Amino acid sequence: MLSLLTHDLGKKLRFARNFLGRRMVHVNLQILYNCNFRCGICDFWKDDYRDKGRLSAAEAEIVSNKLNTIGPQIISIGGGEPMLHPELVPIVGALSRHHFPVMITNGSLVTEVLARQLWQAGMIEISVSIDYADPQKHDAQRGKPGAFAQGMAALKILHATRTHPEQRVNMISVIMDDNLDEVEPLIELCRDMGITYLVTLYSHNRGSKPAREPASNPALRLLDLKRRHRSFVALRGYLAKFPAAVSRAAPGRCHAGRNLCNIDCRGEVSFCIDRLDKPAGKILTDEMHEIATRLLESHRTNDCRDCWTSCRGSIESVLYGSQRLLNAWDYYQMTRPVPLQGRF
Ligand SMILES: C[S@@+](CC[C@H](N)C(=O)[O-])C[C@H]1O[C@@H](n2cnc3c(N)ncnc32)[C@H](O)[C@@H]1O
Repeated sequence: MLSLLTHDLGKKLRFARNFLGRRMVHVNLQILYNCNFRCGICDFWKDDYRDKGRLSAAEAEIVSNKLNTIGPQIISIGGGEPMLHPELVPIVGALSRHHFPVMITNGSLVTEVLARQLWQAGMIEISVSIDYADPQKHDAQRGKPGAFAQGMAALKILHATRTHPEQRVNMISVIMDDNLDEVEPLIELCRDMGITYLVTLYSHNRGSKPAREPASNPALRLLDLKRRHRSFVALRGYLAKFPAAVSRAAPGRCHAGRNLCNIDCRGEVSFCIDRLDKPAGKILTDEMHEIATRLLESHRTNDCRDCWTSCRGSIESVLYGSQRLLNAWDYYQMTRPVPLQGRF
């Protein structure tokens, strides 16, 4: 127990200070946009993003050092498909020196060797995207035959190869207009594997997508599932605001720019992953304090109510939500250690 607490203690204390001071705590980082899937809900694999290149390990080192001046943060590595990046392991190593790297992947490229290398490089959480319990529906949404089977195999490998109890494996689903009935069977699959389950609400702003948020209020159903299934670790404050988000009746003030931001594979910083067209600077060349000032300015002038994805919603719930103690408890459950070889 003591060794768990003291593991990375300095970094954790600095993160706690950042968190309690409501500073920048979460960064989404697209290390490339290339993808081997053709998801119907995402535009990042399309032509507009094709020539953007990728962030090198040397550049990730610069990103890590610069963010550390206002850090540490949880850095969510994504893309595109991050596992297509040939330097993924050194990138994780560079980020974990100062921060807490987590990753979202479609799972198709996970091998035992690579999984072990990622954990050893300091990854603290990996989430695999699975949106439907019906393999055919998942494969169709992801534009890739075999996607479901690959994702499930990846979850098992990732969970079995963890090297420290604080490393976590999640399944994550995007909640859309046609997959609410899939959630309970997916939670049950997670329970059986000893891993945890998360959701994020569909955003029509990722590129230019049609509205596919659930038509009816999904919150009561999700909160009931949360009450009945321990492995469903989404925050109650986050789930409770799905109706407000779906009806665009203002889920609350967005804290992007202050508590979270986005960095793309060229080092372009913006306050939000859905607002790549509103840059706040280039982290590879600009001074961090200038970027941070511009991000805060974006935050001050931003009145966007268009999304309630988990990056935005979880942070807002735990830092500003009305039931902060409840959300803090849920946040602890979402991040607490899971014994090696054990179950949640
Ligand atoms: C863009 S993907 C990149 C990582 C990886 N390729 C994957 O599929 O998980 C990151 C996460 O965003 C989710 N996502 C994609 N399009 C979305 C949308 N329109 N709204 C909300 N989440 C979305 C994906 O399902 C995934 O969980």
